[in-house]
Amino acid sequence: VRNTCPVSWTSLNGGHWTIAGYEEAGQAFRNWELFSSERTDSETSAISIGAARIPLMLPEEVDPPRWYPLRRVLAEVLSPAAVERMKPRVDYWVTTVIDRFIQRGKADLAAEFSVAVPSLVTLDWLGWPGDEAAEAASVYHDMSKHPHDAPEYTTAAARFGWLRSRVVDELVARREHTQDDVLSVIANYEVDGVLLPMDEAASIVLLTIGGGVDTTTSLISAAIVHLGAHPEDRRQLMADPSLLDAATEEFLRFYPPARTHARTVAVDGEFAGAEMCAGDRVLISEASANRDDREFPNAEQFVIDRSPNRHVSFGVGIHRCVGSHLARLEFKTSITEILRRLPDFVVDDAGVVEYPNWSVIGGWGTIPVTFTPGPVSGRQG
Ligand code: HEM
Repeated sequence: VRNTCPVSWTSLNGGHWTIAGYEEAGQAFRNWELFSSERTDSETSAISIGAARIPLMLPEEVDPPRWYPLRRVLAEVLSPAAVERMKPRVDYWVTTVIDRFIQRGKADLAAEFSVAVPSLVTLDWLGWPGDEAAEAASVYHDMSKHPHDAPEYTTAAARFGWLRSRVVDELVARREHTQDDVLSVIANYEVDGVLLPMDEAASIVLLTIGGGVDTTTSLISAAIVHLGAHPEDRRQLMADPSLLDAATEEFLRFYPPARTHARTVAVDGEFAGAEMCAGDRVLISEASANRDDREFPNAEQFVIDRSPNRHVSFGVGIHRCVGSHLARLEFKTSITEILRRLPDFVVDDAGVVEYPNWSVIGGWGTIPVTFTPGPVSGRQG
């Protein structure tokens, strides 16, 4: 489809345009006036195709001008400088998580590592007290990991209510007693001198968990599975750690955690030769755009030092991922430490389980590995 008709119509999934070409995907992401991210029905996700009934995600599901101030609050707390200050905490969590299984000589690196690290880092960054990281992350991870008709999916979806009420509790507490943390910044954020309504503040926090946790999990898992299957790439990365920056972008291009995003056509108009009508749904495929040979020579090959590599895995335009600096830091620290402390890990291919449905988020539910046991770091928080 990408090669013959980069913008096409399908009657599947209720009918929608599919934008599969690299150039076209970038143009569509940038053109928020034509391709709106706003909901047309308050219950149903605007940014995924299908009828996912999930709570509103801010700032992703609004267009300017409402989008500007909602994005600004996150842009400040996830800026490159703010993420640089998080380095010691990211190091701490990656080390602590590996300590939990390194003496055992075997682990499920999906559940015990790639899910654990982003959830612990994200909740710590928010300033969330106690030990609810695993429970919070599992709400999203379990919905990706299980088919939509599985009881585990229904249970996970039902736990949204628990997570949202915990978020509101934490925000209310920060309004009463401000602390030096990100929850306090969001709870007390004012637009034109007025505090954000509680449901908007809660929605922003939920998106940092939902948008930040299972995506980063997916990227770390992809690299573990890939390095297990491609010893030459592993050897190169271990021999020359300076390759990690380029390799990170190639992992993002080749295994985009967010496979697709959706939009709704705002006004009748023409796009890349297609006549679109207001209200039409549109699927933009990051996964397809990243494999477009017109932008990436030998796009179907994983090239560890690929350059240039202008992939679209963090999106493009105004909604481009605000958490990309944090995601890259978590990913690079994770892979560096896995290769340093579990250098001979072997993936048990027969036990690897991929998500059953890759239409929105791709990833792995189980990655069993064995390795030579090593010592714990003895590191204290
Ligand atoms: C590898 C990890 C990640 C990937 C692949 C990813 C991917 C994306 C993509 C493709 C978008 C654009 C969505 C659109 O255009 O509708 C996006 C937006 C967003 N991401 Fe990420 N993300 C990652 C990690 C994170 C992290 C760690 C956080 C926060 C802690 C985060 C928070 C957000 C937010 C809040 C938005 C909405 C921005 C806006 O609407 O202005 N993401 N992400």
